[in-house]
Amino acid sequence: MTDTAIAFVHARRVWDSRGRPTVEADILLENGFSGRAIAPAGASTGSGEAVDLRDGGEAFGGYDVQHAIANVNTEIARAVTGMDARDQAALDARLIALDGTPNKSRLGANAVLSVSMAAAHAAAHDSGQPLFRYLAGKDADLIPLPQIQIFGGGAHAGRRVDIQDFMVMCPGANSFAQALEWTAEVYRAAGKLMAEAGTLAGVADEGGWWPMFSTNEQALDMLVRAIERAGYRLGEQVGIALDIASSEFGRGGRYKLALEERELDSAGMIDLLSGWISKYPILSIEDPLAEDDPEGFAEFTRIHGKSLQIVGDDFLVSDAARVRAAAAKGAANTVLLKPNQRGTLTETLAAWTAAKETGFSAIVSARSGETEDTTIVHLAVGWAAGQLKVGSFTRGERMAKWNEMLRVEEALGARARFAGGSVLGRSRA
Ligand code: PGA
Ligand code: ZN
Repeated sequence: MTDTAIAFVHARRVWDSRGRPTVEADILLENGFSGRAIAPAGASTGSGEAVDLRDGGEAFGGYDVQHAIANVNTEIARAVTGMDARDQAALDARLIALDGTPNKSRLGANAVLSVSMAAAHAAAHDSGQPLFRYLAGKDADLIPLPQIQIFGGGAHAGRRVDIQDFMVMCPGANSFAQALEWTAEVYRAAGKLMAEAGTLAGVADEGGWWPMFSTNEQALDMLVRAIERAGYRLGEQVGIALDIASSEFGRGGRYKLALEERELDSAGMIDLLSGWISKYPILSIEDPLAEDDPEGFAEFTRIHGKSLQIVGDDFLVSDAARVRAAAAKGAANTVLLKPNQRGTLTETLAAWTAAKETGFSAIVSARSGETEDTTIVHLAVGWAAGQLKVGSFTRGERMAKWNEMLRVEEALGARARFAGGSVLGRSRA
């Protein structure tokens, strides 16, 4: 037994940014070093995601996680005690085998992921390095370009508008710190514009302004005005990123846009988005078509893939095999990496490896249900993913990530290389 062997595993219930229970795991090594991680949770989940195990019943709307916690404290603890925390692949393979299902439905992806990530933290502490450097080795230097939400929507705002995230990216910034400064100005300008229009009504689930609009285009217009009011050159310094999250309103090739009061087929949806792309400085679009519409995804990518980042979230669910299949089909050119969509770090990293092999870009992403946990910040740098999506520019669970990235950028000092616009996924064909 090495002294980095896992001596003790313990999970407890903590609470996320939506006031729901979630799983926090602690891992203690034989040598006294320890690691801790908390599982996040989504609201607009892809059907191919690993299962977030909830208790059901009356308490806390059915969202309690007593079974997931018990799974960590009994079966999982027994199975991983004595394993070397530095061997993430072996640890994750043990967790996957122990669960025994294709989607972590027995033990719960929330249970499994908290342990997978806590082990990485413990191993990093043992190595005397921050997690990002432990993961990357001494070569870590790529600081991601952030996607930051200005207006919320979709499932995160009571479906007030169809589109889920209206975000900005700052490809013209020359550091992460500057990208945050610019975003702060745009966020403030958007709030002022909403106040002037008499439509300021607080914030949505991830902290973006509540979308008091009567069309999706109104939101896009307002975002453009906010960027201009803040004084940035459209598209060049600050551009728009959208998460359509269209699996939320699209099924079987039919898309029901509540706000626009119309139903579109796949071609109609592509036309609608193409109109927006020609009119607004859009740099990135996530889930433009639904998870069950790979043909639509491929057609959209054929038209726009050379000039636009096309991101698969619900469509790819951080899954290596799906990334390879999508690449073979020419559908999307970028994968969103959400560790809890798979349940282990090893599987999530495999999706990024598949992406690199097929010419896809990647964005490490938070969920709508988040906490103070900043593991994804370290994954984004440690894996050199190049992009990071965390939600808005308010609220502690979001700012915990942005602020942690500021610390990482500072720690790297002159070696830090801000990704800027160079990492924006576009088909290399
Ligand atoms: P979710 O949304 O965490 O609620 O699933 C985030 C996203 O769709 O990117
Ligand atoms: Zn999404």
